[in-house]
Amino acid sequence: MTNAQTYQPTVDGAIGRDSMTLSQHVLQQLQSFGPDAQDLSALMNRIAFAGKLVARRLTRAGLVEDALGFTGRTNVQGESVKKMDVYANDVFVSVFQQSGLVCRLVSEEMEDIYYMPENCPIGRYTLLYDPIDGSSNVDINLNVGSIFAVRRQIGDDLDQTGSDLLTHGRDQIAAGYILYGPSTVLVYSIGKGVHAFTLDPSLGEFILASENIQIPQHGSNYSVNEGNFWQWDDPYRDYIRYMHRHEGYSGRYSGALVGDFHRILMQGGVFLYPGTIKNPQGKLRLLYESAPLAFLAEQAGGKATTGEQAVLDFVPNELHKRTPLIIGSQEDVQLVESFIQERKIERPPVPSSVA
Ligand code: AHG
Ligand code: MN
Ligand code: MN
Repeated sequence: MTNAQTYQPTVDGAIGRDSMTLSQHVLQQLQSFGPDAQDLSALMNRIAFAGKLVARRLTRAGLVEDALGFTGRTNVQGESVKKMDVYANDVFVSVFQQSGLVCRLVSEEMEDIYYMPENCPIGRYTLLYDPIDGSSNVDINLNVGSIFAVRRQIGDDLDQTGSDLLTHGRDQIAAGYILYGPSTVLVYSIGKGVHAFTLDPSLGEFILASENIQIPQHGSNYSVNEGNFWQWDDPYRDYIRYMHRHEGYSGRYSGALVGDFHRILMQGGVFLYPGTIKNPQGKLRLLYESAPLAFLAEQAGGKATTGEQAVLDFVPNELHKRTPLIIGSQEDVQLVESFIQERKIERPPVPSSVA
């Protein structure tokens, strides 16, 4: 019988790494086993479970009747809804119902807040999410993602307007995404660095892959839909001309924000979705796309701006508010900002007496 005091487990790299699951990591990050820590750990685990269900569907989408293509409906964004959008949204709803954790859901695919009274008031968290990001890629088997943010519920929201959610992004207590690519990767932060987990299908667990990820101060990637050039304000046109005329830059754009951001997080560079004629405020939605990624970007030493202010300082006036987004390496975001500043200086403000 080995004496417990002298037993030294042979926890080498492989065993150590394979035993660091997401829920365990959250508790380690919080350095607590108290009820709040347990709730947040369980909440993250439910998000991971939703990710596993979506990943499973995506890997078989081509074989499953009725998994691909459009539903024929348009969502609150005025966008055509893919069957996978609906499936993934329903996965998140069912995974959090009866969870006792989350009282409200805010989704890109649901116009209004979804209340789960059975979870209130115990579950004092709200989950805000984009169930499938980059859904134009679903039918062509290219990467897509899910994006999420977690906020604490402030007050009882008795008028069911969710007004406590219309605050700046620094009120997020957790944020992250799941990237459904060759492997399924979950990246998250609870404000103590950015960490990546890879789904090990043989274990059915997300296993820690990298901790405290830092965005390089500069990278060669610039990620933007240049087909919108004709719709941009001058500063963005000036910026793209600069990209075209200087060595050392590569254009990379997948049509899925999560994949494009993940490349920037790992290799550096900048992603931008400026305002266009069609979407003057930009296409991306603040509460469940830009703000969660901005939270990660800042935690990883990067930067995220609307072009006017830090994304995390922007206070929305509605749930599905859109903002322009410029996000990535400090130096590359600052380069874009320099073109915005330059145009402002060139065109001094028109004095009110003249206007
Ligand atoms: P979603 O599929 O959730 O609507 O998000 C799509 C977004 C984002 O993922 C991507 O960066 C952007 O739309 C692509 O827009 P364009 O096709 O206009 O470039
Ligand atoms: Mn999206
Ligand atoms: Mn979406």
